Amino acid sequence: MTQPQAIQLDAAHFDAKARQWDENPVFRERGLKIADAIREAVPLHQQMRALDYGCGTGLLSFPLRDELGAMLLADSSGGMLEVVKEKIAAQGVSNMTTLQLDLLIDPPPQRFDLIVTSMTLHHVPDTDQILRVFHDLLQPGGYLCIADLDQEDGSFHGIEVDVHHGFDRADLSRRAALAGFADIRFQTVFSIAKEQAAGPRDYPVFLMTARRTRP
Ligand SMILES: C[S@@+](CC[C@H](N)C(=O)[O-])C[C@H]1O[C@@H](n2cnc3c(N)ncnc32)[C@H](O)[C@@H]1O
Repeated sequence: MTQPQAIQLDAAHFDAKARQWDENPVFRERGLKIADAIREAVPLHQQMRALDYGCGTGLLSFPLRDELGAMLLADSSGGMLEVVKEKIAAQGVSNMTTLQLDLLIDPPPQRFDLIVTSMTLHHVPDTDQILRVFHDLLQPGGYLCIADLDQEDGSFHGIEVDVHHGFDRADLSRRAALAGFADIRFQTVFSIAKEQAAGPRDYPVFLMTARRTRP
């Protein structure tokens, strides 16, 4: 029997979704809830240089913009970044820039005091590599905030879609520690309800916060 072809959610997939992204109230509420949790977990200030990796349309960054310094909104999807650029211009935001970036391939930009990433880690094939890159990109004392799905059975995207099926907290914590992170903490910040064949189902979203403590 032939195996079904795995479906890749590449940059073209997100390019096609970008214009409608902000119409989804769940995506908007998720961004606000994650921003609230980051605000409570990290002492944000206006000198902090921040990276939002896999920023999409900026639904996490925009709520935090007045509490941070320079913000780089980076994504591998040019379509998402077009929408972000329009929002920056329309709202007259002065502390945000954008960059088309895949950190598994492209050279890293400058260092940051804070890296945030929402619902992107499960799209990055090599978790250990991206955690190491995040660690290298942070200034000593800097914070990493990852929001993503708790481990699930593949039904969130569909079993044929080639992404991580969420993350086991203990396993991700161990990987983050191996990458050099300390002060690793988890909390549940949101839950995404989906109608599945067997009935309604909730998919919890965690926020992991961690620090680079090494010089
Ligand atoms: C599920 S969306 C989340 C968007 C946004 N963070 C939010 O919470 O609304 C995942 C985003 O990650 C981006 N992405 C996927 N793989 C990436 C990679 N390797 N490097 C950078 N961005 C990536 C996609 O283009 C997309 O914008």
